[in-house]
Amino acid sequence: MDKVIVVGGPGPAVSIGNAIVQARRTHGNNVAFAGILNDDMAGKEINGFSVLGGLSDAPAFEREGYKFIFTIYKIGGQPQRIRLFDNLGVAENSLYTFVHPMAYVAPDAELAPGVVVMPHANISHGTKIGLGSLIMSNAYIGHDTQVGKHCFIAATSCTGSYVSVEDGVWIGFNATIRGRQKIGRYAAVGIGSVVVSDIPEEELWIGNPARYHKKVTDPIRY
Ligand SMILES: CC(C)(COP(=O)(O)OP(=O)(O)OC[C@H]1O[C@@H](n2cnc3c(N)ncnc32)[C@H](O)[C@@H]1OP(=O)(O)O)[C@@H](O)C(=O)NCCC(=O)NCCS
Repeated sequence: MDKVIVVGGPGPAVSIGNAIVQARRTHGNNVAFAGILNDDMAGKEINGFSVLGGLSDAPAFEREGYKFIFTIYKIGGQPQRIRLFDNLGVAENSLYTFVHPMAYVAPDAELAPGVVVMPHANISHGTKIGLGSLIMSNAYIGHDTQVGKHCFIAATSCTGSYVSVEDGVWIGFNATIRGRQKIGRYAAVGIGSVVVSDIPEEELWIGNPARYHKKVTDPIRY
């Protein structure tokens, strides 16, 4: 039985924790959700789940055989978020790759360590998802698409085929990316936006058709 700790807070950590619990209860997956690591809530609970410690406790849990999923996410500040991940100090083979049993992953798709694929998500043939990327519920990813490391692909978004999504990209709810586009490193796409051209690095684009809105490092309202 794999014992999994999710690093994060209210939001994706709790959603993913619940999906792991449900996968075991309803589908018999051989995985147990052990709890959360969160620097601000150590010793408390988040949505009924125990916070086992802070991020610096990860190596001690790793020595006890726990596996990890990293869910801290942001639109701006992706380098800081990725630094938190790097500072966890756990080996790649201690990252847990979780595919919910109600998701579809094509047999030849490749998922790196720490990837999460939530219920009803679709990963089409020839597609590769990089280390620690989160593919949330109902997100669709077309064929022969490359998703980099540490990306957040929100629920119900649709990413076409032959798309190149670079490291640390953030795609909002219900956004659509036309095939063959390139979404630059740390770029972000707002809710419901329709992307029909390439997005340069570190830019937040919104609207239909999506246009430059601001740098991801500028203040935003979540
Ligand atoms: C784009 C976003 C980050 C907000 O950025 P912001 O700079 O704080 O934007 P504001 O809310 O101040 O809005 C600025 C303008 O952009 C518009 N706008 C904001 N988001 C938009 C979107 N996704 N599409 C089109 N227009 C948008 C606003 O209506 C406003 O227009 P106005 O100036 O004519 O009034 C946010 O709207 C968004 O899309 N968040 C993603 C949420 C999400 O997917 N969460 C998933 C978490 S699990």
